[in-house]
Amino acid sequence: MSQIYYLEQENEVDLFTHAAKLNLPMLIKGPTGCGKTRFIEYMGQQLNRDVYTVVCHDDLSTADLVGRYLIDENGTYWQDGPLTEAVRNGGICYLDEIIEARKDTTVVLHSLADYRRVLPIDKTGETIEAHKDFMLVVSYNPGYQSMLKGMKPSTKQRFISLSFEYPHAEEEEAIVIKESGIDSETAKKLVKIVNELRQLKESEIHEDVSTRLLVYTAKLIKEGFPPKEACRHAIVESLTDDDETIAVLEQLVSLHFDTDI
Ligand SMILES: Nc1ncnc2c1ncn2[C@@H]1O[C@H](COP(=O)(O)OP(=O)(O)O)[C@@H](O)[C@H]1O
Ligand SMILES: [Mg+2]
Repeated sequence: MSQIYYLEQENEVDLFTHAAKLNLPMLIKGPTGCGKTRFIEYMGQQLNRDVYTVVCHDDLSTADLVGRYLIDENGTYWQDGPLTEAVRNGGICYLDEIIEARKDTTVVLHSLADYRRVLPIDKTGETIEAHKDFMLVVSYNPGYQSMLKGMKPSTKQRFISLSFEYPHAEEEEAIVIKESGIDSETAKKLVKIVNELRQLKESEIHEDVSTRLLVYTAKLIKEGFPPKEACRHAIVESLTDDDETIAVLEQLVSLHFDTDI
């Protein structure tokens, strides 16, 4: 597999490497599209461990994590879920948006996330001791956190925590250039626009522009799509559904592109 590109923001590579070595589970907080998934894929490659990703949602069951009995022409057989596979064979089990999962689903993580490092499987009566290369990583977006949800302190207290933000301007420019192949002048301009949008505290804008959307915009422009249109479809429209706000944001974008394009 080719080398995964990841531009480090602070000391997260070192921290993750230590956590992996010491068998400490890790919690990553941060807004959507800021590089969490990319970071974990990168670390998996660096540490030579498979990554088992599960995107959590409120219908996720313990069986989806741990496994279930299935039936084929030979009868029933047990099928490991992604968590069990990682526990057995070693690997990073990454539970994305953990807060979306119900608490009764994630309770199974407790004995894996502390010194015991075991996974009890009720259905088979097995208790699996985690492989030495098993690592548990969970993430969530604090912006989405509601009073009702949130993580139980007893769960949170089992993890080393790491907070991600959108990259600083220079780094974000470098990422956009690398990911889209766009020239540095346009990358600079896009990062500037996006940071202006991130400053806005419009009531109709519920989220910040992500690095992901920035990369999409740059890709469209690189392929010859008109820059203002690219900004509209990849950035502005995804921030709000309110027509007036869209008009205001488009004007802000225009200020950057009308002058010299
Ligand atoms: N530090 C980084 N290094 C390289 N690419 C990054 C970085 N941060 C963000 N990206 C880019 O942003 C995109 C979205 O990041 P992703 O990891 O999917 O976000 P998240 O999982 O936080 O929602 C990636 O596909 C990549 O193009
Ligand atoms: Mg992700």
